[in-house]
Amino acid sequence: MGRRPKVTIVGAGMVGHTTAHWLATEEIADLVLVDIIEKMPMGKALDLQQAGPIRDVDVSIVGSNGYEETAGSDVVVIIAGIARKPGMTREQLIDTNSGIVRSVVEQVVKHSPDAALIVVTNPLDAMTYLTYKVSGFPRERVIGESGALDSTRFRTFIAKEVGLSVEDVSGMVIGAHTDKDMVPLPRFAHVGGVPLGHLVAPDRIEAIVARTRRGGAEITELMGSSAFFAPGAAIAQMVEAIVRDKKRLIPSSVLLDGEYGERNVCIGVPVVLGGRGVERIIELPLNDEERAAFKASVAAVREHIGSLKL
Ligand code: APR
Repeated sequence: MGRRPKVTIVGAGMVGHTTAHWLATEEIADLVLVDIIEKMPMGKALDLQQAGPIRDVDVSIVGSNGYEETAGSDVVVIIAGIARKPGMTREQLIDTNSGIVRSVVEQVVKHSPDAALIVVTNPLDAMTYLTYKVSGFPRERVIGESGALDSTRFRTFIAKEVGLSVEDVSGMVIGAHTDKDMVPLPRFAHVGGVPLGHLVAPDRIEAIVARTRRGGAEITELMGSSAFFAPGAAIAQMVEAIVRDKKRLIPSSVLLDGEYGERNVCIGVPVVLGGRGVERIIELPLNDEERAAFKASVAAVREHIGSLKL
């Protein structure tokens, strides 16, 4: 008898419960929701579980204020932290969120020593690095969610511009998960195999890139709080790639060890996600401009990492 994969989500707020919703809908795994707010994750888990008979979903969904129930998870998603408010950058969350992430990771690894960890808390690349250090896990199993989200925003805006199906739009964003330093790569984007530059004028590509950079900020300004539908879908895509060993090519934040000429920094690069976590890092043939943007992005992340108390 096999067993279903087990996925824990720590931080059952907006992004956490939306991730659970996407995962449950696709029947990806049994789910454990953890939060420090007393009883809240139990309530959300019960609510989602009760949608099962309507949606034909058999996975088990439980909530907890502790970590006993998380034992033996295959994937743990770390979303605990505070989210940004309008006018704030992701970087401004570093002091509060690093304390939260450290305490969460210490608990998580005790109960699930073989799990792959997906980090979502901002500032993303620094929190991924902190998780790598605190967990002591191999770098293959510490993966930051950044490019999956930034790329789906990029692809959305491309699809709207060309008026074609999102299914045919391929495009990726690498670099830091910040408005200023992310590196959208229009030169590598295509629609059904047709290069983006063949379909869209340079000034419109610039506009798409600019809107992608502010993708999260635009939503935060509209809602007064940060996004959750697309972030949740991006996390669910990564979880599925791992638990179903799909070998998806999804840009994610990972510790570099010589790739792109960098070491000892976590930053978004194209990676292959499968059953072993990050199974491969793809080195792109960046041109001078893209390489310079990536270098600047690495420098920004190194600054954030430098301010962590490690
Ligand atoms: N342990 C467990 N849960 C915690 C802890 C902790 N130590 N500290 C905070 N939390 C929980 C909060 O109680 C809250 O329910 O994390 C949850 C965060 O949820 P929201 O406030 O709704 O924020 P959300 O929009 O989901 O964003 C969460 O993701 O995108 C990032 O920057 C964002 O770091 C933020 C995180």
